[in-house]
Amino acid sequence: MSGPSPAYLIDLAVMRANCEILAKLKERTGCKIAHALKAFALPQTFALLRSHLDGCCASGLWEAKLANEFFGGQVLTCGPAYADTDAELLDLSSHLDFNSLSHWQHWKERALHHPRAQCGTLRFGLRINPRCSTGKTPLYDPCMPGSRLGVPPEHFDDADLDGLSGLHFHTLCEQGSDDLATTLEAVDHHFGDILRRAQFTSLNLGGGHWITKPDYDLDLLDRLLERTRSRYQLEELWLEPGEAAVLNAGVLHSTVLDLFQNGATRIAILDLSATAHMPDVLEMPCRPTVTLDQRSALPTGDHLYRLGGNSCLAGDLIGDYAFHRPLQIGDRLEFLDMAQYTIVKSTFFNGVQHPSLVLRHEDGTLETIREFTYPDFKQHFA
Ligand SMILES: Cc1ncc(COP(=O)(O)O)c(C=O)c1O
Repeated sequence: MSGPSPAYLIDLAVMRANCEILAKLKERTGCKIAHALKAFALPQTFALLRSHLDGCCASGLWEAKLANEFFGGQVLTCGPAYADTDAELLDLSSHLDFNSLSHWQHWKERALHHPRAQCGTLRFGLRINPRCSTGKTPLYDPCMPGSRLGVPPEHFDDADLDGLSGLHFHTLCEQGSDDLATTLEAVDHHFGDILRRAQFTSLNLGGGHWITKPDYDLDLLDRLLERTRSRYQLEELWLEPGEAAVLNAGVLHSTVLDLFQNGATRIAILDLSATAHMPDVLEMPCRPTVTLDQRSALPTGDHLYRLGGNSCLAGDLIGDYAFHRPLQIGDRLEFLDMAQYTIVKSTFFNGVQHPSLVLRHEDGTLETIREFTYPDFKQHFA
């Protein structure tokens, strides 16, 4: 690509192909699918997503606003906690899920008296923790011991569930339908009796389903959805994947700025940063595929370089890669599969508000110099 560098290039044809797989899944099984904005939130692509999917999953107020303003359809909101000042969520969400029973009790009065709740366009649910870890990456395991995400089974003894009609779990991350099968058995074991109560009409199976990956077992997913619906006589079965819609749809373009040697190590400094632009490389950690002249680099070989970012962080390293020829300053390197959890993480991840900036003057007075609001979030994209 001869365009700007660094740049995330989003390929709409790949997104469309992913969306078509999701739309066919909906057609076959009758499930509903919300796109998780926390993974990818570019309003210029929402018309494409919306024409295949039922709406969005929002992590809180700002994503719910973005969903209403640019996406349309249903808005399923689920966050670890909502501030009292986030009451607009009651106007913006179709489904509002709570992460703990105490938080539901805190909101219950206000929520149930909201006119939209009374006419049935706003429903409430609880995020559950099925205590079933199937993933390999602890950072992405909501069922880790002492997890803060979801109500564990024992909290349901004698719990007041009045006013709730949905349960929601999210435990997977880049996983197949075999892991979903294991999780659904744990859900049935711990929460089956609750789901069989007539008041519960909706189950949200969260995200982390790698549905658009070529080797994903769609037949098994179809069977699991069918069985889950009939097991509990549910009206609504939701999936809220984020990555699935943009899998392989994003390439991060970069340029080699400098090349030098430190001992036995050859180093290439790029015009991007692992920590600022693709933090999963360090957090997960993961190793992205890199191409030069459209040829993939290998882990070892003659022209081996340590690719480093242009931030001050000593560990701003993408990894060691061997190319088919020596690198030169000005070479363009492409990092593949970079749409999800990159653009969102270099802005306001989950739409969480940035802390205000406040000065304490020497006479003790406080001066708020900057508060961040929803327009700050949206102007990054739209
Ligand atoms: C509650 C919830 N739903 C949906 C998702 C989307 O997951 P993915 O993008 O892996 O499909 C996440 C991701 O963290 C999540 O926390």
